[in-house]
Amino acid sequence: QTILILNGPNLNLLGKRQPEIYGSETLADVEARCRAICPAGIDIEVQQSNHEGQIIDWIHAARESAAGIVINPAAFTHTSVAILDALNTFEGPVIEVHISNVHKRESFRHHSYVSLRADGVIAGLGIEGYVAATRRICTLLASG
Ligand code: DQA
Repeated sequence: QTILILNGPNLNLLGKRQPEIYGSETLADVEARCRAICPAGIDIEVQQSNHEGQIIDWIHAARESAAGIVINPAAFTHTSVAILDALNTFEGPVIEVHISNVHKRESFRHHSYVSLRADGVIAGLGIEGYVAATRRICTLLASG
């Protein structure tokens, strides 16, 4: 089984981008840390795009290829009905992750379209949030 870890715009710069907010670790570090906690038989695939349509296409592909999705939609969290609609076509568990505590930031970051679909939401744990979300999906998959 595969867990898809999807990342939205500007997260290709994770580690370089506003490190005082998002930390100094990169998406490669996220991948290594999440893979390290997966039990045998569960693999992860990490993707990142700056383009909304690409993220939607990956969610559609995940309908066939992934058992669960961890998603940090980045700025699309606050704008994208289309990503919400795509996630509503996916039947497995979905956990939404934000590296920063969006509720402590500007009010436009307080609303998430994706939370209407997410089975869980994590904010403010830094990149540990991805690890916690991956662990949660592993638990949900194991409990069938
Ligand atoms: C973010 C929070 C969003 O508001 C922001 O646009 C991001 C990253 C986070 O991980 O904290 O790009 O999703």
